[in-house]
Amino acid sequence: MPKTFTSLFEYKKSTKDWHYNPSIKSRDCKYIGRIKNLKFNKIKSKLSKKKSESSVRLYKDDFRNGKIIPTQLSPNSIGASKLDHIKHGYSDHNSRYYQWIDSRDKMPTEFEKIKKCCGLDHATIACFKQDPGNTNPWHFDTYSSALKRAGLEGKDLKKIKRYLLFLEDWDWGHILQIGNNVLANWKAGDLYTWEAGIYHLSSNCGISPKFTCQITGVVTQKSLHKGKKKSFNI
Ligand SMILES: [Fe+2]
Repeated sequence: MPKTFTSLFEYKKSTKDWHYNPSIKSRDCKYIGRIKNLKFNKIKSKLSKKKSESSVRLYKDDFRNGKIIPTQLSPNSIGASKLDHIKHGYSDHNSRYYQWIDSRDKMPTEFEKIKKCCGLDHATIACFKQDPGNTNPWHFDTYSSALKRAGLEGKDLKKIKRYLLFLEDWDWGHILQIGNNVLANWKAGDLYTWEAGIYHLSSNCGISPKFTCQITGVVTQKSLHKGKKKSFNI
C-alpha cells in the first residue's frame, strides 16, 4: 500500500474497484436460493460453548518492525482491516463473535452435506454466532485461506466464491449490508453471494443471538449461484 494512504479503506477507494457512493442504487448482492431441510441445532449448541473472539484483536503477524501502522501492512492483511475498525470506533466490546471453522473444529455431518450441496471445490465452512450489541465492521474478504487451500494465487480471486447461509429465520435487529444493499427478513436456509472485494458488514442490534454460516470455495459448473434453481435439499 503506498505510504500516502492512512487507512485501508482510503487505499481501496483509490483503486476505483467499486463506486464507493452510498447514494447510488447498485445491486451488490445476489440471492441464490433456499436450502429447505436445514437442521443446525448441533452447531448452535457447539457455538454457544465457544470462547468469543473480537474483530479488532491484532495478532503477532499484524506487526512489522514492532509497529502496527497501515502503511506497513499489505492491503490484503487482516491487520490493516482491523486498524480501520479501531479508527472507525470499534473495540473489543462491540465487535465480538463466536466462530466454528472446519479447518480447526469438528463439524457435524450436516455441514458436510451443506458443503456438497453448494457445488464449490475445496470448500471450507465457518459458522458464526453474534450476540446483540456486536458488529462485524465494514470490511472486504481476501479469501486468503481459500486461495491457499485450492493452490491458487491472489490473481485467481475471481475463481473463489463465498456463500452466506442464514441458519435461522430473521429476527429484529439482525442486519447484513453488502455494498449498498441491506439484507433483512431472511428465512433459515437462504443463501446469498457477492463479488470478491465488495465491502460488507454484519450487525446485531436486536434482542437475540444471530447465527450465520459461510461456505467458501472454487467455482465449478455445479455451483448453486450459476443455476436457475432456487430451492435445494441437502
Ligand atoms: Fe466478510
